Amino acid sequence: MKFFLDTASLKDISWAAQAGLIDGITTNPSLLSKQAGDLDPRDVLKEICSLVDGPVSAEVVAVDTDGMVTEGKELAKIAENIVVKIPMIEAGMVAVRRLAADGIRTNVTLCFSFIGRLDDVGQEGMDVIREARTIFDNYNIETEILAASIRHPRHVVEAAMIGADVATLPPDVLKKLLMDPLTDRGLDQFLADWNKLVARAKAAV
Ligand code: G3P
Repeated sequence: MKFFLDTASLKDISWAAQAGLIDGITTNPSLLSKQAGDLDPRDVLKEICSLVDGPVSAEVVAVDTDGMVTEGKELAKIAENIVVKIPMIEAGMVAVRRLAADGIRTNVTLCFSFIGRLDDVGQEGMDVIREARTIFDNYNIETEILAASIRHPRHVVEAAMIGADVATLPPDVLKKLLMDPLTDRGLDQFLADWNKLVARAKAAV
């Protein structure tokens, strides 16, 4: 399973890319709005595309087909690794087909709802991924499944067990995957033991 960092934060993207932990980026209008401030969001996207080799999702804000296609074509010009993100509404389905016919890569968002957003309202969000995986496999559908709205490391593990192609995870979840109190405790013990050895060696001189 690939990891796409779900953020527009240049700081987080830069760190994760340099650590070789991510395969791409997903953004949405909310995330870009937070990062861009007074900047042109296209400049932020350009910068993100320069930081990562993999796909960078950029979402259209138009809600009619022609508008989505026009916006999608403009977004695709920002960089070769832009993937145009289209909301799962009727107009969006036509837009995906038209953009794909022009050789522009797309992904579809707000499908059924998201894992965390379903969990938030007391449903089992991961069922969406489980059902999609089974259906796509039954019919050899090549489209990749992006598990979105990941809230914690356990979601990442479950998505991987089910066979999602990508987990789009926020930076805090990526960092949580790297953290474990047992690691910290073990490291503290190793260093304490090592310091005893150093102290013994010094005392013996
Ligand atoms: O782009 C959609 C995705 O980021 C949703 O995640 O955490 O806002 O539910 P979240």
